[in-house]
Order: sequence, then structure tokens, then C-alpha cells
Amino acid sequence: METKHFLYLAPIRGITDRLFRDIYHHHFPYFNAAIAPFINPQRSINFNNKLLADVNPMGNGGLVTIPQLMYNTAEDFISLGKRLEDIGYTHINWNLGCPSPMVANKQRGSGLLPYTDRIIEMLEEIIPALRAEISLKVRLGFKTPHEIHDLLPRLDQFPLKEIIIHPRIGKQLYRGRADRQAFADCSEVSRHLLVYNGDINTAEDFRELANRFKGIDHWMIGRGALTNPLLPGEIKGHSFTAAERKELLSGFHDDLYNQLQIRLSGPGHLLNRMKQIWAYLIGSFSEEKHILKKIRKASTTRHYERAVAKLFQ
Ligand SMILES: Cc1cc2nc3c(=O)[nH]c(=O)nc-3n(C[C@H](O)[C@H](O)[C@H](O)COP(=O)(O)O)c2cc1C
Repeated sequence: METKHFLYLAPIRGITDRLFRDIYHHHFPYFNAAIAPFINPQRSINFNNKLLADVNPMGNGGLVTIPQLMYNTAEDFISLGKRLEDIGYTHINWNLGCPSPMVANKQRGSGLLPYTDRIIEMLEEIIPALRAEISLKVRLGFKTPHEIHDLLPRLDQFPLKEIIIHPRIGKQLYRGRADRQAFADCSEVSRHLLVYNGDINTAEDFRELANRFKGIDHWMIGRGALTNPLLPGEIKGHSFTAAERKELLSGFHDDLYNQLQIRLSGPGHLLNRMKQIWAYLIGSFSEEKHILKKIRKASTTRHYERAVAKLFQ
């Protein structure tokens, strides 16, 4: 069994919120930790404490969760960082990877990567001001994959916890493949602990990467783990029969559906959320196309429940 590897559940905003993480970890206890989706970067002065509910350490169901900030000023980062420290966090992740044009055009997320001086100046203020360890989640750049090569050597001076690298550029969004060679090049020029993230969709993908990057033992998985929630277990050496797989997925689905029914206001929201989850989970059931179509098209909870019951029969 692979125990050496440390697996992070990636933040997927809109899906991997606290409820999802709790229920996922209860049914599939194979991730070592999760990074929570970024906390909405409101100005610290207007900050509403309700936005911290997703990362409140109480009730995170046993999966260690690291909160993520996406600011572009040290002042806002420190202000919210201190609130996170007050509720018990000792590790905060900085999102320098979000590719969404709405975010990046405001020089946040991957949109800050071309501005190396600003990132360095922010870290010079943030690191002495916070007790928590800081990690970064980056892409190769926003416009070009060279941006990371300006940044990485300058990060060596800081005591960062780790740097998670998703080897695409921001402009690329999720097109193309994650660039494994670019990740290899990064590992040559940084003294920091690097975490590989991108397109780990099967246990075979993981094995190829682990064989190629012998010095890496921290990995982050997002869409692959939403498509096949058993993937982190498979990576860690577990195997599941088709019947076990179905039973586990069914238990996870039902728990999530029931809890979301309590949390969300009205069947419209519930169905929307479940369909977002199925957009990934569908990949675990490629044979049952006609039932999947019914799930996707369900306009009432009765239709939805009937289709899902048939799938898990
Ligand atoms: C819908 C969606 C939402 C995401 N939300 C976040 C986020 O809040 N913070 C973040 O750092 N990355 C976010 N990501 C990026 C993922 O964490 C991850 O880096 C990316 O999906 C690549 O990994 P994967 O190939 O294993 O999915 C998001 C990705 C998607 C598709």
C-alpha cells in the first residue's frame, strides 16, 4: 500500500464546500487534507464573518482543511489571515492560480503572476505579520509559462510551507494537458516543497507521475476525485469490486442529497447543485447513458430520485 504519498483534495469552488468535504471524507477517507475554495475576496473592512463559515474548524468532519485567500494587497490578506488565526488555523493558502477572466483581470489569482515584484512585496509584509504558515497555489503564469521562472527563484528567500503548481497558464483555462515537463523544470529551480496538481484522473496517471517525479510526495487532485471518488483510495493501494463501488457511491450520493435537501432552499437549488456534482460523477457510470440523461434532465426531485435509484439498483 502506498502510504508515503500525501494527497490533497483540490478546492473546486461551487462543489467542495464544507458539507461536501465532510460527507466525501466520511465515505472515502483517503485524502490527507483539503484546501478549501477561496474565501470571497471582499475588502477586509466590509468583511462579513458569515463568509468564514465554510472554513470554521468546528465540524470539518476530520479532514484537515486549509483555508485559501485570494487578495492582491498585503493589508487585506493580513487582516483576514489574523481572523483565520483567531479561529485556529496555522496554515493559509494563497490563490495565485485562478484563471477566471473576472478574477484575473483584476490582478487576482493567476492575473497577479505577471507582477512578480508585487507578489514579493506582499510576501515581505505578510510573512512577518502572521504566525500561520503560508503556502501558494500557482499556475505557470497568466500569459506565458515563463512568468513562473521569474517568480520561483525569488520565493526561495521566504519560509513558505509549500508551493502547489498546476502546470497550465491562466489564459489556457483548462484547455490542453497539464504540462508535466514544465513542472519538472520548476522542480529544478525551487528549494521549496512542491506539490503537483493537474490531470491526475486515474491511478495509472498517478503512477506515471510518481515514477517520473521521484522527489515529489505531495499531490493534489480535483476533477479526477470528483469523477471517481474512489481514486485516492485506488492510489493508496485499495481495490474495489464493481458491487462495492456502486454501494459506496450510492451511500455517498444519498448522504449528500439528503444533507443538501436540508441546507438548500427549494428543489431548484437542490437539483442544480446535484447536476453540478453529476457533471463529474457521470464519468463513473459511462455505460448507463440513458439513465444519466434522465438525471441531467430531471425537472422535479421525484424524477431525479427515480433516475438515481435506477442507476444504483
Ligand atoms: C469549477 C472549478 C472551481 C475551482 N475552484 C478553485 C478554487 O476555489 N481555488 C483554487 O485554488 N483552485 C480552484 N480550482 C482549480 C482546482 O483546484 C485545480 O487546480 C484544477 O482543477 C486542476 O486540478 P485537476 O486537474 O486535478 O482538477 C477550480 C477548478 C474548477 C474546475
